[in-house]
Amino acid sequence: MPAATRSKKSARKPAAKAASGVARKDTAPKVPAWHVAPDKTRAWKRLTALAKRGRALDLRAAFKKDRTRGTRFSAEALGIHLDYSKNLVDGDIVDALVALAKECGVAKHAKAMFAGEAINITENRAVLHAALRAPKGSVMKVDGENVVPHVHAVLDRMAAFADAVRNGAWRGHTGKKIAAVVNIGIGGSDLGPVMAYEALKDFTRRDIDCRYVSNIDGEDFYEKTRDLDPETTLFVVSSKTFTTIETMTNAQTARAWALAKLKDRAAVARHFVAVSTNAEEVAKFGIDTANMFGFWDWVGGRYSMDSAIGLSTMIAIGPAAFHELLAGFRDMDEHFRTAPAKKNLPYLLALLGLWNRDFLGFETVAVLPYCQYLHRFSAYLQQLEMESNGKRVQLDGSPCRWQTSPVIWGEPGTNGQHAFYQMIHQGTSPVPCDFLAFAKPLHDVGSTETGMHHDILLANLFAQGEALAFGKTAAEVRAEGTPEWLVPHRTFPGNRPSNTLLCEQLSPRMLGRLVALYEHKTFVQGSIWRVNSFDQWGVELGKVLAKRIIPELSGARPAKAAHDSSTSALIARYRAWRGR
Ligand code: F6P
Repeated sequence: MPAATRSKKSARKPAAKAASGVARKDTAPKVPAWHVAPDKTRAWKRLTALAKRGRALDLRAAFKKDRTRGTRFSAEALGIHLDYSKNLVDGDIVDALVALAKECGVAKHAKAMFAGEAINITENRAVLHAALRAPKGSVMKVDGENVVPHVHAVLDRMAAFADAVRNGAWRGHTGKKIAAVVNIGIGGSDLGPVMAYEALKDFTRRDIDCRYVSNIDGEDFYEKTRDLDPETTLFVVSSKTFTTIETMTNAQTARAWALAKLKDRAAVARHFVAVSTNAEEVAKFGIDTANMFGFWDWVGGRYSMDSAIGLSTMIAIGPAAFHELLAGFRDMDEHFRTAPAKKNLPYLLALLGLWNRDFLGFETVAVLPYCQYLHRFSAYLQQLEMESNGKRVQLDGSPCRWQTSPVIWGEPGTNGQHAFYQMIHQGTSPVPCDFLAFAKPLHDVGSTETGMHHDILLANLFAQGEALAFGKTAAEVRAEGTPEWLVPHRTFPGNRPSNTLLCEQLSPRMLGRLVALYEHKTFVQGSIWRVNSFDQWGVELGKVLAKRIIPELSGARPAKAAHDSSTSALIARYRAWRGR
């Protein structure tokens, strides 16, 4: 299988093209009998009964009653300690959640995924991002063909290219060394790379500046390139489909920007490379496919940061560190496949999240890394979880009778403490939190006089979990001498659930483990919710409508397309202010 295409042997038959361009089958694929609807299981019924107990669970009393609760409800693997004791759970609830995963056939579903079966049934595709980090010499098959050699062929090409850019062997058209790499991509072709670049900045060569242009808003391109020199800038155009309007428009703008100075079309070959599954579109765009790094339709966009989509990451941190990142993913794959559910970090995170969503009714989850390097982690998880599991129908097309993806959001601590934590502590809607931190900082800044920053940071994290769980009673507030009228304002209800993920130290390997942890968490939840976590039809309608509106904004006269009165008035107002 060449880098970005399927061999004849592996081409899935009777796939026709749907209007959207993806392969489709004319008859609905059969959902395996073991993949049962969650609300048909005994465990779901048991959990429904237990929900009352969960809602009434008093964390103060629970911790008092069981002095070992903090360690009993925790699990540790791969340098990641998960403390989930501050959730509204007890032993029976955890047992029932584990039973739910079993009855819903999660392990069988995972087996099918790792075996390369086409579990993305609406697009008739395998889901094999795990093959992206499979070791050389191992076997993972799609349609009977081992894809691991193809993965490594691309990784080797990426490494040769990344090394050449890093050591100056790859030069710009005028012979100058590359000083800036600009990744142009959006969604999965941006969020992973930018998150990883920020997370691993300390592992990067600081003399190559990586930037990320994603938004169709021209201000993004303008700001990211205004101080760059086309002679020393390399663009990596990253798009799985190579048809995404934002990326294609930004790439065209980039080409014009570069050629305005370089004034020779031949310069494109030295300043543009592509990452895609679509060789045909790459060639049409004018990028030599010799400068293309491929991946495959069995890699979903939001699961692609460890594919060639990570080219900018590899240039930034170097091939050896990129392989460490892959090793981290692999560590977690292995843990996910082999650890019993009660000790399995992805299972536990998924099941607790499902408990909060479906049985306690919490609608959002805040992911709060106490690590500035992870400041794009929550944004990355938003796509991973919400694009995967923000679905309303089951695999067989029938409506979900349960809630699916919560809203994922968050910002790094301690910044968030001075912004939105007020609502988390005292608002009317509890927000389960995932606190995330590293025990060992990369830079232990501070001194005994000023205080060590990291100790203060971690103290804040631990304090937040404590405050959320145990709150402050009215009696405690009164005992401080607070006037009676102020007591309700200063009371903290407590019983607000959180997980704490305390990891040893941030490194490429640890980042790989963390991303794979959330990938598999998402898988387990989607599997139980019985949705297809690997398609994203919900993004289509807006794209189609925007295409129709574009000429109405830029044309000499508004088109006569029928819109509702709100949209028509907005278009008219826009045109008027633009003098059109
Ligand atoms: O519109 C959503 C989406 O398709 C995401 O799933 C994807 O990650 C993103 O757009 C970018 O797609 P591409 O890599 O094909 O440009």
